[in-house]
Amino acid sequence: MSDTQPPLAARYRATPPDVSVWDPLLRLTHWSFPLLIPALWWTAENHKYALHKRLGLVLLGLLVFRLLWGFFGPETARFAQFVKGPKAVLAYLRGDRSAGPAVGHSPLGGWSTLVLLLAMLAQVSLGLFAGDPFDGATGPLNGLVGARLADTITELHETLFWAIAGLIGLHLAAICFYAAKGDDLLSPMVGGAIPPAEGVTGIGPTPWVRGVLACGLAAGLALWVAYGAPPIS
Ligand code: HEM
Repeated sequence: MSDTQPPLAARYRATPPDVSVWDPLLRLTHWSFPLLIPALWWTAENHKYALHKRLGLVLLGLLVFRLLWGFFGPETARFAQFVKGPKAVLAYLRGDRSAGPAVGHSPLGGWSTLVLLLAMLAQVSLGLFAGDPFDGATGPLNGLVGARLADTITELHETLFWAIAGLIGLHLAAICFYAAKGDDLLSPMVGGAIPPAEGVTGIGPTPWVRGVLACGLAAGLALWVAYGAPPIS
């Protein structure tokens, strides 16, 4: 070691750690979407309805978890932090970067997140009631609606898929657009962190019990629905 170099501890202190942006549960939930959505489409196209139903219930559980996480998760996962009014969205569109939080979704990204999550939730919910009992496959709650309503729901379920595919296309186009401007959104969604920046603090740890409770509640709800939502006595 040369005499001019500062001691190891001082050098370590001089390199601030990366800033944590997305927690592991949010990332796990996110990356399950690009796996599940194509798989759900493929199983429906190829009439593999038993698997389609199972994957749909997994997606239901993940979406319920994500909604709960939007209230009890760390700051960047919370709806209150990223769903902003039209003023903030317009300011952001005019180039005012202070209109959004230093880390997490921008005011525009926040709305696209909400729309994507709600569209997927609507799609899964329609699937629960879809199908024709005289024609094979039905969702676990199909028996709760009449055959005519179930027909309409099935048609909506088929149509909404294409709207979701469009939203996903927009989502990917936006990510490419930011990448072209030198704004890398992908790496933080993979690794959870961004390089350190002056005055930017990331998310802190979330009590693990909240994660366990949210996962348990979401899995419980998906299982209850899988069994046809029997009365709880
Ligand atoms: C089925 C496909 C996909 C769906 C449904 C989807 C959905 C979502 C949702 C709901 C969020 C908000 C995250 C949250 O707050 O929970 C999000 C964020 C994000 N997604 Fe995706 N996603 C998909 C595919 C992808 C792919 C393939 C990539 C990468 C190439 C990607 C990269 C990102 C990134 C970087 C963010 C963070 C954006 C930001 O900083 O606001 N997504 N996505």
